[in-house]
Formats: sequence, C-alpha cells, structure tokens
Amino acid sequence: MAPAVAYAPAGSSFIPELILTDTTVSPATVANPYFLDCDTGIDDSLALAYLLASEKVNLVGIGTVAGNTSAEQGARNSLDLLALVGRSEVPVAVGATGPQSGEFDGGVPHIHGDNGVGNVELPVSSLRPVAEPAAEMLVRLAHEYAGELRIVAIGPLTNIAAALRLEPRLPRLVKELTLMGGAAMVPGNISEVAEANVGNDADAASEVFAADWFITMVPLDVTLTNTFEESDRDALLASGRPMPQTLGRILDLYYDFYIATYGRRACALHDPLAAAIAVGDIPLRVAPVVNVMVDATDGPGRGQTICDLRGYLNGYPQQPGAHCRVVLELEENFAPTLLAQLLRA
Ligand code: BDR
Ligand code: CA
Repeated sequence: MAPAVAYAPAGSSFIPELILTDTTVSPATVANPYFLDCDTGIDDSLALAYLLASEKVNLVGIGTVAGNTSAEQGARNSLDLLALVGRSEVPVAVGATGPQSGEFDGGVPHIHGDNGVGNVELPVSSLRPVAEPAAEMLVRLAHEYAGELRIVAIGPLTNIAAALRLEPRLPRLVKELTLMGGAAMVPGNISEVAEANVGNDADAASEVFAADWFITMVPLDVTLTNTFEESDRDALLASGRPMPQTLGRILDLYYDFYIATYGRRACALHDPLAAAIAVGDIPLRVAPVVNVMVDATDGPGRGQTICDLRGYLNGYPQQPGAHCRVVLELEENFAPTLLAQLLRA
C-alpha cells in the first residue's frame, strides 16, 4: 500500500519537501528510481542505453507513446533493446496510441525508419509489454517511490498528461520531471515554432507545463547544437559489444536525415542529452528558471513553448511562480560523455 503523504513548503528550492505521515510505511528502498516515457525511435534508443548504463539510475519502468512510431512498436523496440543487454526485469507499458485530440499521424519513417529503429531488425525477444497502461504504471510507481521517482519524458507528453489527470497529486509525488522538448530561442522542427514532442500533442504539453512541479526542459537550443559524428558511429560499430554496435547500425538512417541540417552525416542528440541531464551528468552553463507556457491554440503558434526570457540581459531575475528550468547552454560538448557511456552499455 502506498504511504500517506503531506507536503511542506519548498524553502529556497522549488522542489517540494515530502513528509511521510504514516510511519508504518516507508517508500520503496530502491535508490534513484527513474521512469522513462518515450516514443522509441533512434535517439530514444540512445537515451535508453544511456540510462541502462548508468550506475546512478534504477530504471523501474518504461512507458511508450505514439510519436516517432506507434506506441506498440515503441514498446517492441524498447523490449528488444532491453533483451539485448539482459535487462528483462524492466517493465514496459504501452501508453497513448495518439494525441489527446486528433489521430496519430503514423510517425516519421523518413527519420526513424518504418520500425522506429532505422529499419534495423533487432533480435526479437520473447519479452512482452505489461498489461498496465503507461499512465497507470507511472501513477503507481510515483506512489511506490513517493518523493523519489524521477521522470524522463522524451516523447509527446500524452502519457504524462494522462497520469496527471489520473492522479492530480502527481507533481507532489515525483522528485523531478526532465523532458526533451520545446524550442526556446530557436525555430521549431515540425513548424516554424513547434518542436516535435510538444507540437505533436500541444494540449497534453500545455497541461504538463502548467502543472505545479519542477520541470527541466531540454529544448532544441541545446540538442541541435550537440552532435554525434561519423567518428562516434565508427567507435560504436567497432566496440564488439551488442548494444553499442546495434546503436551504431540504427544511427545510419538518422545520419542521412540530418545531412539536410548539418551538410554532413551526423545527428542531433535530443533524447540522450535529456537523459544525461536528468542523471545530473552534464554541467549547465545557462539554465534559467522561468515561466513557460505552451501555445495550444489552433493558430500558427500551436506547439510553441513560450519562455519568458526577458531577463537575458540581467541574469534572469527570479520570476514569481516560475518552475521550469530551461537549458540554454552546456558547459561542454556532450558527445564525448555520451560516447563513453554508450561504449559501456
Ligand atoms: C524529439 O522528437 C523526436 O523525433 C525525437 O525522438 C526527439 O524526442 C526531437 O524534436
Ligand atoms: Ca523521442
């Protein structure tokens, strides 16, 4: 049974202090529990491998959502990647099969392949998704690991919004939400202003950003300026280990897609950067805590993350009610950290 909880004001930090009021029940004892919510495409696979390779992470559940590929295919990919490294104990739950309103558009096979993993055929494991839907799993885990669970959301935010509706106290139950999404000071990637994870379900994203929890937003501003190059892919392929070699193979198609962006075979590091920041591995140079809202109207701004960055000339003074840390610059290039981690995966 989940412990009864009450909450104290946050003090100097926004992160709410959680008080256990039932002394007969304590939170589950696994240290550093993480929940990954993803639309398992190519960069999601890098993020999953990053988390699996981290000694600081206990991955207690994975939810999948329609985005790069269908939620079912995302689950299949996640399970097959888990099997590749003998991590069959991590439960995978299928989540939303489309956005809150409208239909799933079929994903982006020209970017992530027909199967989400660059058309590479992963060894098909006998693992199956659990029966519990992703949003319900998230709510259950948030209770089980009350005050400890960290969410890493790297797909459309449909499951996270659904979990908020199921359990409005979710923001007080989880430790932190880190998400790959949005574009703060740069253009979008599915419209002039919208980034894919936010724009593919702007209604859900609007609810998630409006909820009263501490969010770390990892936007295109930093994920497009950190890249993997051919030399990184070569190192993965030469590793002699199943996971890095597989990642090297699935990156092939992704590199083709990004020729139009970078003028060379390389790729952006969207989701793995969010994973690494969630783990606390990446020093941040500029990451102000500011008010952010999502445009969920039907106009040309739909899916835009409107970040109040008006303080950029004077060190971003504190904004009342702000609870979103927007990562704008890193201290160092992310690729070497990522490569080293993936070679251990
Ligand atoms: C985000 O959209 C997806 O295609 C990627 O996996 C990443 O999560 C980048 O905009
Ligand atoms: Ca993703």
